[in-house]
Amino acid sequence: MLKTRIAVFVSGGGTNLQALLDAQSAGAIPSGEIVLVLSSSASAYALTRAKEAGVPTVVCPPKDFFSRDAFETALLEALDAHHVQMIVLAGFMSILSGAFTTRFPERIINIHPSLIPAFCGSGFYGLHVHEAALSYGVKVTGATVHYVNEIPDGGKILLQKAVEVRPGDTPEVLQRRVMEQAEWLLLPQATELVAKRIQEEEASL
Ligand code: GRF
Repeated sequence: MLKTRIAVFVSGGGTNLQALLDAQSAGAIPSGEIVLVLSSSASAYALTRAKEAGVPTVVCPPKDFFSRDAFETALLEALDAHHVQMIVLAGFMSILSGAFTTRFPERIINIHPSLIPAFCGSGFYGLHVHEAALSYGVKVTGATVHYVNEIPDGGKILLQKAVEVRPGDTPEVLQRRVMEQAEWLLLPQATELVAKRIQEEEASL
């Protein structure tokens, strides 16, 4: 069977992208292949990681376009050019519209660094998520992989993993633990799950 063609969307450091590339090299994503890394920022270190792994890259900064429509049209053109069937958002900082997400129903996933529905939705990104968890005083946090629809962090949940909060944690320390113990494990697992389902759907057409 043909492998599901995957694009990973990034904006920053790309440690989750690295986890996906490493999982792919280790044979842990047998149903899919990362064929494109698309970055919303030209300076994202994630682009270096993609190049080192020999994966084609595209840079698409939203500010270069006069409207969200024009931005999303450019995204779709890049995806079409690489025959992409599935999208993994791995630290991608732009919100995608319903017009875009409905083009890929249950074929876009995102990793969020909390146990949704806690600390999610608009304004909860990056360190803010961990700051909020610490100021609320939760003793357990974690990460969630969910399908992406037009509601920020609102799509159906695929996988979650809990991570302990420890006394004296700073947002940075907690962020690192959530990445190491949850995000970098969950995202490759969820990617394989969805890639396998798409592969089966395509084969039965
Ligand atoms: C991660 O914490 C992820 O959960 C969130 O953005 C961060 C991206 O980090 N959506 P990286 O670029 O993968 O290192």
